[in-house]
Amino acid sequence: MFTWNENFSVGIDEIDNQHKELLTLIGKLFTGARFKKDIIEISNLTTEIISFAEHHFMTESRYMRKYNYPDIEHHENEHDEIIKRLKEYKFELKSYNVDDFASELMILLKSWFVNHLTYTDKKLFDFLTPLKDSTTKL
Ligand SMILES: [Fe+2]
Ligand SMILES: [Fe+2]
Repeated sequence: MFTWNENFSVGIDEIDNQHKELLTLIGKLFTGARFKKDIIEISNLTTEIISFAEHHFMTESRYMRKYNYPDIEHHENEHDEIIKRLKEYKFELKSYNVDDFASELMILLKSWFVNHLTYTDKKLFDFLTPLKDSTTKL
């Protein structure tokens, strides 16, 4: 589910590598939630994902600003929403029944990460790709 495949590629190594790293972290979190059910580990991994996602979103914002991406507001709103939801999830972890971790997490990560990556990020990088030919480093 959370393994990298070429459909995720946006054609910019810096971003692809960050997406790979995010998917690895998400996979670890999902495995932890599904099988180990250790709330401390889940909480720590969630914190790690939040900080890596924040770093990644800043990288994308840098590209959007540099190349005057017209849909920047909508894209950044989705990023803010992902961070907000992850923070809520982390906060609510304490009150979840341990068996609900995995399903809650699956819904959250699937809708916010995989869909964002497949549609919203893809749209951004479809915009950037033609510009790539005219610049040495995008
Ligand atoms: Fe992204
Ligand atoms: Fe994005």
